[in-house]
This record gives sequence, structure tokens and C-alpha cells, in this order.
Amino acid sequence: MTVADKRLNPSRLRRDFPMYARRRNFVYLDSAASSQTPLAVLKAMNDFYGQCRANIHRGMYSASLEATNRYEAARAKIAAFLNAAPDETIMTRGATESLNLLVQTLARRLGPGDEVVTTLMEHHSNFVPWQQLAKERGFTLKFVGLTPDFQMDMAAARRLISSKTKVVTVTHVSNAMGTVTPVAELAKLTHAVGAVLIVDAAQSIGHRPIDVKKLGCDFLAFSGHKMFGPTGTGVLFGRRDRLQALPPYMYGGDMISRVTKDKSEWNELPWKFEAGTPNIAGVIGLGAAIDFIGILGEKNIHAHEQRLTNLALGRLSKIKGLRVIGPSAKADRGAVISFVLGDVHPHDLTNVLADAGVCVRGGHHCAMPLMLELGLAGTTRASFSVYNDEKDVSALVAAIQKAKKMFDV
Ligand code: ALA
Repeated sequence: MTVADKRLNPSRLRRDFPMYARRRNFVYLDSAASSQTPLAVLKAMNDFYGQCRANIHRGMYSASLEATNRYEAARAKIAAFLNAAPDETIMTRGATESLNLLVQTLARRLGPGDEVVTTLMEHHSNFVPWQQLAKERGFTLKFVGLTPDFQMDMAAARRLISSKTKVVTVTHVSNAMGTVTPVAELAKLTHAVGAVLIVDAAQSIGHRPIDVKKLGCDFLAFSGHKMFGPTGTGVLFGRRDRLQALPPYMYGGDMISRVTKDKSEWNELPWKFEAGTPNIAGVIGLGAAIDFIGILGEKNIHAHEQRLTNLALGRLSKIKGLRVIGPSAKADRGAVISFVLGDVHPHDLTNVLADAGVCVRGGHHCAMPLMLELGLAGTTRASFSVYNDEKDVSALVAAIQKAKKMFDV
């Protein structure tokens, strides 16, 4: 790959993303939903299919051994990226599966009297599984709310995390507002009561450095497709002792060490949690996405996105009738900006922006409890990545001005 000379020069960097060649005037401000894919990731996946297409962990022939090596090398890369060990790094289909894996293994042991503390800003993938299992198992969900500046209310968190708490599960960066949760502080509160901390890093991974040891979390979940990787890939990091204590999530091939008619024994970590043939090409592609991020530098990516986010916040806040739903520019923020324009429904606004070539997401962002709390049907959300620049912000502002006239706001 040849991006080394293109560090965060978005217009040059776009040459690494074929979508920009195919689509003229492509103002892509929806990377929080899914990022674009660079050539290096496409090539890595294609090379697997063209050079060593075979199943992994099974064949003794060279194609299978090579496929296994590429798959496990990608895992090692992902582990190093998180400052974790390969046996603590489990491949899944996405953040949703990673979180469901935890709910179905860890939370099955909870019952009446136990409490799980979460926040009102979780994505449905870190809320609905807990809600459903709480009904089945009889444990209680407790919700930490927001401050007037849309931050996690840490005074409430301190009150709610108690000796009854068994799990604290929080988003790292809210997909709907860009709020950043103080994970390291939460880890101290959680561990002080002997509970475990789960972090949904779907919106922070690839946008800022993630070090699971510095964060102090027990588990961390994310998807590959929001960090330049392929769709259908995801990761669950778990501290080794925590993972060893959990039962398998799915049963089948590769996750066993010995099976008789009467009983089965489980494979070692991480394979104990990887039943069946995995998304081999996808994991190899995710490894290439990590290389891509490594060349750009996570700190550079973070600084670039913060600059653009602050620029956009400044320009949007000058639009009369527009209200930003999220922390102010002074706060440490994720690269997403949610807003409402007068009483225009976000789906109508999103349609007008789409007509102007501006790709954003409108609606509840899979965070309906948050929208209910805020008294909103939804918001319109713009999100940024390495290929965005000031011109994208200007296009967004111009399209909103057009919508303002159209809807008479
Ligand atoms: N979770 C993704 C989003 O927030 C799809 O848009």
C-alpha cells in the first residue's frame, strides 16, 4: 500500500478508496454506520480467495496451512492493536454478536437480586440482549442518565454501582451523540465492587487509540466494518481469566478438543468461542484494515476527526433553528454530530440532504430509549472519517440551508 505519503491528506487518501472513483461528488458523512473500504483490504481478501482458498485449522496441505497462517496472523495483529494477547481476541460477526455472546454466557449466571448497570445511550445491541435476559433470569437493569451537556452522569453511576452490581456495560462513544464515556474511571468503580466491565467500542475503534489495559475493561466488543474492514467481521476482547470462566457460546466444529457419545471437552482459547468455519477472508481483510490504520496513525486520525468535528459544530451552531444533540465542542467527542432542524422529521431532512449528494443517517440510530428520554423522534447524524475534509462540511451546511428554505424553518 502506498498511503505513507498521504497522511491525512483526505483528497489524496480518497484514491485508496474505490468508492470515490466510482461516485462523483460523493459527500460520505455516514462512517458511523459503516466506513468505506480501502484497496489494501480488498486486495488482502481477494488474495486469500485467489492464492490459498481452503479451510483453516484442518488441512495438512499447503493451501490450508497458508490460510491458517494468514488468519492467525490477522488475529495477532488485532490483538497487538488492542494491547491484548491473541488468545484473548475472539473473532465474531460484529459487535452485536460479541455482545450477545457475553449476554448468553455471562448473564445466564445472573438471577434475582443481581444488578446490571448500563446507560440510557446504549445502541440496541448493548441493550436489547440484556433487557431480554433480565426478563428471563430475573436480574435488574439500572440506567445511568445524562448531564445537561449530554455526558454520562457519573454522580448517578457512583450511586448505582453497588455490591449488588455484577456487570457494568457501557458504550465507549455514543453512536447517536458522540458522547465519550470515562471508561477508566468506570473500571475502578466496577472492580471496587467485584463486578466486570464490558465496553462497546463500535464507535471508538479506529478513531482513537484503544488499549484494553489502560482502559481497564474486562471485555471489549467492536465491528470491523466501521474501521475500514469488511462487513460481517467483529471482535470480542476478553481478559483471559474471564474468558476461561465462561462456557462456550455456540457448539460445533473447531471449538471442541474431544467428543464422545456422552460428553464433549472444549478447545483452548480463543477457539473455544469460534464454532464453525469463520469468515476467513473477512478476518484477513480486518488485519489489512489494522495495517491501514497503523500507517495513518490512530493519534493522527483522532486529531483529524476532532478538527473536522469542531469545525462542523462551529458552523452548524450558527444555523438558526438547528439544535445539536450532543456534547459541546469543548468536550472530548466522537466523530459524530447529531442535530435537529426545527420540527423537520429527520427522515425528511435526510432525504433532502441525499438529493444534494450528502450521505447522512436520520432516525433513532438504534438508540430508541435515548430518543424517548430526549423527547425526540430521532436526529440527523453526520459522521467523519479520514477521507472527509472541510469541503464535506461546507456541502453539509449548504444542503441544510437548502432544506431550511424548503421546510421554512
Ligand atoms: N450502529 C450503526 C450506526 O450507528 C449502524 O449507524
